[in-house]
Amino acid sequence: MINDLWYKNAVVYCLSVGTYMDVNGDGIGDFEGLTRRLDYLQGLGITTIWLMPFQPSPGRDNGYDISDYYGVDPRYGTLGDFVEFTHGCQQRGMRVIIDLVVNHTSDQHPWFKAARSDPTSKYRDWYVWSKAEPKNATTGVVFPGVQKSTWTRDAAAKAWYFHRFYDFQPDLATANPHVQAEILKIMGFWLELGVSGFRMDAVPFVISAKGARVPAKPPEQFDMLRRFREFLQWRCGDAIILGEANVLPEDDMKYFGGDGERLQMVFNFQANQNLFYALATADCRPLKKALKATKPRPATAQWGMFLRNHDELDLGRLTEPQRAAVFAAFGPDASMQLYGRGIRRRLMPMLGGDRRRLELATSLMMTLPGTPVIRYGDEIAMGDDLSLKERECARTPMQWSTEPHGGFTKSDHPISPVISGGAYGFEHTNVADQRRDPDSFLNWLERIIRMRKEVPEIGWGDFQFVPTGTHEVLAIRYEWRRNSVLFVHNLGAQPREVTIERGAEGEHDGLLVNLLSGDHSEPDKQGCHRILMEAYGYRWFRIGGLDYLLRRSEV
Ligand code: NOJ
Ligand code: CA
Repeated sequence: MINDLWYKNAVVYCLSVGTYMDVNGDGIGDFEGLTRRLDYLQGLGITTIWLMPFQPSPGRDNGYDISDYYGVDPRYGTLGDFVEFTHGCQQRGMRVIIDLVVNHTSDQHPWFKAARSDPTSKYRDWYVWSKAEPKNATTGVVFPGVQKSTWTRDAAAKAWYFHRFYDFQPDLATANPHVQAEILKIMGFWLELGVSGFRMDAVPFVISAKGARVPAKPPEQFDMLRRFREFLQWRCGDAIILGEANVLPEDDMKYFGGDGERLQMVFNFQANQNLFYALATADCRPLKKALKATKPRPATAQWGMFLRNHDELDLGRLTEPQRAAVFAAFGPDASMQLYGRGIRRRLMPMLGGDRRRLELATSLMMTLPGTPVIRYGDEIAMGDDLSLKERECARTPMQWSTEPHGGFTKSDHPISPVISGGAYGFEHTNVADQRRDPDSFLNWLERIIRMRKEVPEIGWGDFQFVPTGTHEVLAIRYEWRRNSVLFVHNLGAQPREVTIERGAEGEHDGLLVNLLSGDHSEPDKQGCHRILMEAYGYRWFRIGGLDYLLRRSEV
């Protein structure tokens, strides 16, 4: 296994244990079930599994309300089962990262119970209190329409406590050195059990000053991130933190650190939202702008690129008209929208079930500057169940086969209903059928992942946009160790012939080797390429010659 900067050329797959595979028949996915699916994931080409929270939890926010940081929720198995799982991953050369949810705990966590019932408890100062209702109690809610305030009165404590998210998720006082020491301990614990790092939940809120009197835009303690990272790397040199931070491009560098001394990876929400805008309107300009704005970053840092995740597709960073355009294209119904800012559907239904658009979107995401993060179920183009509340609609169990409940469980009471009937029901959309079909999306994705791994230029190199003469076709070229690759995507519903000029220094005047088919492009006499892009078409080219595999320097 390549250890140094492994995340630069990784393919990440995120899943929640409870909805993946149930082995003991109680209707709830478990570690044993997941472990049995590792060969499947390895076959798909996944190099890193991101596990969503699996620790003991009342489960009121899909596990993002933890009541014990040092255990496995008994519904999913035991710590022993967890270690069997990480061992199984290691055997297959796959890494595991897990969610680190330390902005808040569950209100059922013993720390919070002690803090509220006993003012002299050492845990009292682990949370954020106010004697009177703070003036800002109704501002800054994260789930508008569902969450009413960020402060709630606790009768036992006779005080108000702060909660950035739901009221059952009291915020930890992350500035308290004892809380910080505990966060390090939590990281150290899971590293010993075989994980390679963490997806850190809600980073801007973790590092934000908290309290009744903080200003409307509370100052952030970025140094905390350096301390987390240092500890991590003292314990385990190649462990990483992938931060969830939906922030403006001007703040990116504060999260990575000027010398790359803070987070190794951060999700690129800016690219994500503009990518959906490009898919909705066929206008690539805002996406290009977003990619340019998020370009500067330290050499060791990396973006996480994604299409959909387990939350709503947050469009909050787009302008009002842009957001309206994405809503109109992908979530026109009020029932498809959430929190006034996002779309709660899965990818394939958003794209109208159009396989061409699904390939386009996936190909584009895979070739943007960063590391791809794939959501479970998207490899078989699963759908959603809009009758489920809030974000639950896109968190239904994995569809493995045509057996009852999609082969997810033998129980008749699955943790969440398996999608059945219609185009996206397990009867039509499942792994078993797609494995057998060479033309299935699953097998297409496997081939694309294989090729993505052979193009380390994307994760490591520098990129530039190449003019195509139209806003509907995006061409991006990567350069790394004297090798170049070029990706062309037609966002439009019309076929288009585009011209790729030879470039000021003849950057593209050679043969363009098509990496996905035998359809290479020869330059004309002037060194220009004329490429006929079909509607929603995409091309992966290596610039230069057919012997590219021999010429490419090894990573
Ligand atoms: C972000 C997570 O992605 C989301 O699912 C969760 O509700 C909040 N953080 C609170 O932990
Ligand atoms: Ca089970």
